Amino acid sequence: MCGIIGYVGDRDASFILVQGLKRLEYRGYDSAGVATFQDGSIAIRRCLGKLENLERLLREAPISGTVGIGHTRWATHGRPSEQNAHPHRAGKIVVIHNGIIENYLELRAALADRGRTFSSETDTEVISHLIDERVQSGQDLVHATRSVVHELEGSFSIVVMHEDSPDRLVAAKSATPIVIGLGENENFVASDIPAILDHTRRILFLEDGEMAEVTRDRVTLSTFAGDPVAREPRTVAWDPVTAQKGGYRHFLLKEIHEQPQAIIDTMRGRILQEQSDVSLDELAKADWLAQARRMVFVACGTAWHACLVGKYFLEHIARIPAEVDYASEFRSRDPVLDEGTVLVVISQSGETADTLAAVETARERGAKVLAICNVVDSSIARKADAVIYTHAGPEISVASTKAFTTQLTVLYLLGIYVARRRGVLSEPGAHALIQDLVNLPSHVEQCLKRERAIEKVAKKYGNARDFLYLGRGINFPIALEGALKLKEISYVHAEGYAAGEMKHGPIALINEEVPVVVLLPKDAVYQKSLSNMKEVESRGGRIIVVTDAPSPELEDIAWEILPVPTSNPCLLPVLLTIPLQLLAYYIADYRGTDVDQPRNLAKSVTVE
Ligand code: G6P
Repeated sequence: MCGIIGYVGDRDASFILVQGLKRLEYRGYDSAGVATFQDGSIAIRRCLGKLENLERLLREAPISGTVGIGHTRWATHGRPSEQNAHPHRAGKIVVIHNGIIENYLELRAALADRGRTFSSETDTEVISHLIDERVQSGQDLVHATRSVVHELEGSFSIVVMHEDSPDRLVAAKSATPIVIGLGENENFVASDIPAILDHTRRILFLEDGEMAEVTRDRVTLSTFAGDPVAREPRTVAWDPVTAQKGGYRHFLLKEIHEQPQAIIDTMRGRILQEQSDVSLDELAKADWLAQARRMVFVACGTAWHACLVGKYFLEHIARIPAEVDYASEFRSRDPVLDEGTVLVVISQSGETADTLAAVETARERGAKVLAICNVVDSSIARKADAVIYTHAGPEISVASTKAFTTQLTVLYLLGIYVARRRGVLSEPGAHALIQDLVNLPSHVEQCLKRERAIEKVAKKYGNARDFLYLGRGINFPIALEGALKLKEISYVHAEGYAAGEMKHGPIALINEEVPVVVLLPKDAVYQKSLSNMKEVESRGGRIIVVTDAPSPELEDIAWEILPVPTSNPCLLPVLLTIPLQLLAYYIADYRGTDVDQPRNLAKSVTVE
């Protein structure tokens, strides 16, 4: 999510830090800052917006020093602002941080009780206070940091400076990446290799639960428990562009593979397993939500497909009447809205013009608006009555992947949250749904492990001119999403259809040339979908079936079987999506299209 860099050496730190941050610009950010040791104290410069602003600030108010840290922030807790930008100082300690501290409210309250005051809304600032408390009581920086990381819950990587130790940085990693770059009389810390690739290719990778003390001529690794770690550096051969993509050929493939972590980040801190409930702090004041008589879901593109699944969740789990509309259609009709209606808008970017206009229409007519967004403080997030953020991190490839599956994760949480508050979901029922969600990231991981098999299927069918995707019930939107992914990035014509509608038209298209992708989970409508598949078979269609229940019977009918792990019917849409993303990716790659920036498409459509 955020970008981190640190430098210890003999050169001008602020220049190296800003150059390193520029190499991470592709990740997206909303504010930036640097800190260096200067004349016995730590100087900080931070600002909202682009690195150009930071460079301008550094020209107006330069800072010297040969040791320092730099950060680009992608807001999660607290809106984008200079106060919330990193580095964060408390007393003698200055910290930069990537990730989410789940228990920060608790920690913040305890710190406030001990007399600490805060100058930002971030979860990061609590870390600097906690470490400062310990150094004030006489601990050295490494011990103080080690004892604080044990108190932090969530996923984080941090880099810390201590005013009384001007020759060193301390880094700690729990889940989000940290690498150490080794140079001659200088060393580097970074969240991502591109930040330091101009200076060194000798890299030490920190593992989860490890720390590093970094000086200009030494790097000392240890575990959070205090045990020493011996590790040889690796020499990376990546060119700068490959490095930005984390070694993947395209951002799209990287983002597909980021999904297990993105789902973990999205549900982190929001499930109360023991109480069989969901905790959404952002809805604390939104009592109108559980009282809603009706929900209207509105979005564009992939987010609209998430809406279709969301309607199913809210009807099925929370028993609320729900309907779905394209934002562009919603705004141009005369919708019936009142205080009993909640408009749920879904948008990765939070800037899509039609979705924003739908928010305005709903508010004018007295409906409440709940937004599900990936970009903190985006226009839609600001205009809504309440926002639930997906924590997918920046999505760079134009075609949406991890934003979609994290939107489904939030909608599932929302279904449980509303159902519990409306008294329509029992505790054991909620417990079972939550347990399945906890298992989801590892199930997604298993889907990703089948990548090579899917690549082979993609090559076999990559020359087809038309594809048909069929799904039923909650998986009909996944058929739409699979078809959309394919047409967006490979330029192959593809149609998603509700399986039951096939005989009302698309069946006329089926012949030996047309691959038909059938979503066939072993759910309540399995037999019906199987019948549709047989209708395709008898017309010579080449069937690619995606299922959690492979069987000899299916082998007789299908040309290809793409298996996924099984789960409850509400989570199967996420699992069935993964092979479809990979299929679209490898067909596009086989056809040689511009996967990350397909022709005519934009990541964020801010015009009507
Ligand atoms: C564009 C993008 C799609 C995205 C849609 C909605 O068409 O290419 O990937 O799904 O906009 O974007 P939003 O940011 O509102 O989710």
